[in-house]
Amino acid sequence: MRVHLDDVQTTADPSSGPTAKISARGIGRSFGTGPGAVHALGPLDLDIGEGEFVSLVGPSGCGKSTFVRLVAGLLPPTFGEMTVRIEGDPPAPIATVFQGFGIFPWKTVLGNVKFALAAAGVERRDANERAMRWLARLGLADFADAYPETLSGGMRQRVAIARALATEPQILLMDEPFAAIDAQMREMLQEELLTISQTERRTVVFVTHSLEEALVLADRVVVMTARPGTLLSETRVPFGRPRDTRVREGPEFGRLRVDLWTHLRDEVQAQMAGQRGGTAQATL
Ligand SMILES: Nc1ncnc2c1ncn2[C@@H]1O[C@H](COP(=O)(O)OP(=O)(O)O)[C@@H](O)[C@H]1O
Ligand SMILES: [Mg+2]
Repeated sequence: MRVHLDDVQTTADPSSGPTAKISARGIGRSFGTGPGAVHALGPLDLDIGEGEFVSLVGPSGCGKSTFVRLVAGLLPPTFGEMTVRIEGDPPAPIATVFQGFGIFPWKTVLGNVKFALAAAGVERRDANERAMRWLARLGLADFADAYPETLSGGMRQRVAIARALATEPQILLMDEPFAAIDAQMREMLQEELLTISQTERRTVVFVTHSLEEALVLADRVVVMTARPGTLLSETRVPFGRPRDTRVREGPEFGRLRVDLWTHLRDEVQAQMAGQRGGTAQATL
């Protein structure tokens, strides 16, 4: 049970081909002990390559957020091993974007991004320029001095994305970042994320309950079983890059979506059975 942040220079074996950026081996997590313990996740084996964009889908409560927290090092695993390979010695190798935005209401938009840069050790004189550059990329330049409460949900989520990307992380972890956003804004944010992730390839783990969103964005879609979440299927997404959100209009897209849903349906039913008598809705 180890979580290490390895320096690639000292651990990479050049003869072993491309090494995984994130490597989970028999990883799992339980919460609590005794009869009330919840086995949330695993054992799960998953390798995510350098520069790869992986979407993670699975029934509600199957451990997706738990997996993200294990990768981020916010939570230790109960069993198994998580290796996250970081090159060099960057101050902020991993950035996260969660559903609830997580931006500070008492700071301006610019203040939020600069706060993250300060935490990442970026010098004050560089931070302003870098923050403004990322705000501009996400269409927020005119809102630098605004407070979050004056912005729409979609714009607040853009602030969260700008803040995460401004730290120039090697790994970007996004946990249902667009779940609370209306359909049109969501598509715009997908488009922006595609553009950004295709200009500067980063390793991205993107949790979503939308199969369509998973297919539009990712190089590979990983489907998890009902809790405790293990690997159910992996699908390599055949659409080339750069791509845009119009890939969803093609016939192959519909076929892939149906295939994924076929994998997932039984798991959602298993999750419903597990909640028999409860009030929870069966959702992805
Ligand atoms: N801190 C915690 N304490 C107790 N149970 C937790 C905790 N975090 C998550 N769980 C439980 O672990 C399971 C997986 O949760 P989560 O990873 O949030 O699932 P998902 O993101 O796939 O919906 C759920 O049953 C959840 O209630
Ligand atoms: Mg979750």
